[in-house]
Amino acid sequence: MTSSDKRRGGMESTRKVAIIGAGVSGLACIKACLEEGLEPVCFEQHDELGGVWYYTDEPRPNQGATIYKSLVSNRTKEMMSFSDFPQPKEAPPFLPYTQVHSYLREFADKFELMKFIQFGVQVQHIWRADDYATSGKWMVRTAPVATDNNKNTSPQTSLFDSVMVCSGHFSKPFVPKVPGLEEFTGVVQHSRDYNGAESFKGRKVMVVGGANSAGDVAAEVAQVASVVYLSVRDGTWLFPRLAGGGKPRDFCIQRARQNLPEWLKRILLRRQCNAFLDHENYGLEGCKDPIYGSTMINDEIAFRLATGKVVTRPVVERFTRTGAVFTDGSKIDQLDAVIFATGYNVAIPFLESDILPRDVGDLELYKMMFPARLPHSTLAVIGCVGTIGPIFPVLEIQSRWAARVFSGHCPLPDPQSMQEWLRSNREKCKSKIGRVSLMVCTLPYCEDIAQELGVRPSFWQLLPRDPYLAYLVYFGPAFPTHYRLVGPHRWAGAARHVKMAVSNTYSATRKSAQKPEDCLSAKVTIVKVMFTSLCVIALGIVIGISY
Ligand SMILES: Cc1cc2nc3c(=O)[nH]c(=O)nc-3n(C[C@H](O)[C@H](O)[C@H](O)COP(=O)(O)OP(=O)(O)OC[C@H]3O[C@@H](n4cnc5c(N)ncnc54)[C@H](O)[C@@H]3O)c2cc1C
Ligand SMILES: NC(=O)c1ccc[n+]([C@@H]2O[C@H](COP(=O)([O-])OP(=O)(O)OC[C@H]3O[C@@H](n4cnc5c(N)ncnc54)[C@H](OP(=O)(O)O)[C@@H]3O)[C@@H](O)[C@H]2O)c1
Repeated sequence: MTSSDKRRGGMESTRKVAIIGAGVSGLACIKACLEEGLEPVCFEQHDELGGVWYYTDEPRPNQGATIYKSLVSNRTKEMMSFSDFPQPKEAPPFLPYTQVHSYLREFADKFELMKFIQFGVQVQHIWRADDYATSGKWMVRTAPVATDNNKNTSPQTSLFDSVMVCSGHFSKPFVPKVPGLEEFTGVVQHSRDYNGAESFKGRKVMVVGGANSAGDVAAEVAQVASVVYLSVRDGTWLFPRLAGGGKPRDFCIQRARQNLPEWLKRILLRRQCNAFLDHENYGLEGCKDPIYGSTMINDEIAFRLATGKVVTRPVVERFTRTGAVFTDGSKIDQLDAVIFATGYNVAIPFLESDILPRDVGDLELYKMMFPARLPHSTLAVIGCVGTIGPIFPVLEIQSRWAARVFSGHCPLPDPQSMQEWLRSNREKCKSKIGRVSLMVCTLPYCEDIAQELGVRPSFWQLLPRDPYLAYLVYFGPAFPTHYRLVGPHRWAGAARHVKMAVSNTYSATRKSAQKPEDCLSAKVTIVKVMFTSLCVIALGIVIGISY
């Protein structure tokens, strides 16, 4: 085997891939492996697929994050779909968790993924095979999870060519160490254990955190509590799901905007947020800009703030027996409960720390996926990222890339180049956020991986083939389907779906079904194409974009 074959993980015929977890990432990985001719074996510790989206009244053993009954997706159905499997017409633009879960089941059924999943089997340990130095192979120890019907939990060890870690990013609830918390006599909960506001009726409650869980929990509890204090560290940027005309805010994620200079994007975002709600007047302003600060996608909290049911406070300095003191010197007393909506820590306990360090700052994942220190590209971590933008497209494109690397079609660069990427990414993070972080911006990140995969659509290449499609790809919302237009494993229905996707978003909310010719009218197309071509040529001349 040549050294380049080794980096590609070898070239044997059917390569076995262990996939840990059957959430969104695990499902995307099974499908990607099948597309690449690999043999996936997926282990899921629970009795159902979906990961976070599989709701149970009580958290399941070993479960990380949970969702609550009232949870509605913060991204549109189009941005929460796999690239070649559109969401159903009956689904509303924003999905209750039940519909996300049924979509995942339908995806698994359609592509016959279920037969590759072993349910009720936990991965306990993954380590290098004896001949790892030459083969890059892995040993995986699994054990059935004990249930009332199955008491046999004897472990089993198997050899795999490659491993895809899809065990979820939100592993352990994080509660900050705040002085005095242990003395506080009220209820203390993490948003992971929150499941409805009933127990807070008439109570004085504080929610700590400035992101999506904090927004959802504070807005819901405020419906029944006497008052909710929302303690935010350095402000938060509030985004409604819907912009003007009920257009989903998701639809602002466009290649044309992406290519604007960063300073202009910041100004535009700031203006958009403040146009919805003046952040200073409602106590949400902070020092960070909306790209890198806390963001909260929420449509109700503004009304609760405006009616005094939610009151913002700065970060808690210390708790007392019955209340809290804040960093600005203000205090609250007779506080009944504190809900920490302060997020989660990543934990991948089945991998040794020399493969994947425990500390996020030391992770050293090339392009947030491949442990850069390993001599073989046979292990990938999927979904170990936070996203500024929708996460589904990121999980899917990562899965496709990992499978393509494992099949030998997409070799990774040499170790020195990977280290160079890590160094420059660390510096970028530190200068922008002030620390090493797992955050990525959805569109630029996906574009980068899509380039590696050969599936990044090019405006100029699409223009002669189908000008309207080129227009939509560059100026329209960057839907996941765009990554099935060109390159390996493209989907024959992709172009048509790109043209229908905006219309499909509203398919369940319109009074009557729309006729296809409405959105594909020849006149509209001609006008748009002429307009687009002129704009793009002008733009190209002025700022020299290279699309
Ligand atoms: C409260 C909440 C709300 C969210 N809302 C949205 C939203 O509106 N829109 C959106 O796009 N995203 C949302 N997300 C993000 C969500 O995490 C992703 O959409 C996506 O579900 C992540 O999928 P995953 O497969 O990477 O991880 P998970 O969904 O966490 O799946 C991991 C799977 O791995 C299994 N597993 C873990 N360890 C082992 C082991 N040792 N052995 C075997 N199996 C194992 C777990 O049981 C689980 O099934 C939300 C997240 C949370 C926490
Ligand atoms: N409806 C929905 O779709 C929905 C609802 C809930 C959650 N989610 C998703 O679930 C995932 C987890 O979200 P999350 O909101 O639980 O966690 P998160 O996004 O990690 O946010 C944690 C929040 O806690 C704050 N925080 C952390 N430490 C703190 C401290 N010591 N004091 C004060 N504040 C502190 C953070 O502030 P800093 O920014 O300053 O660190 C941040 O605002 C995300 O992907 C989110 O999109 C979606």
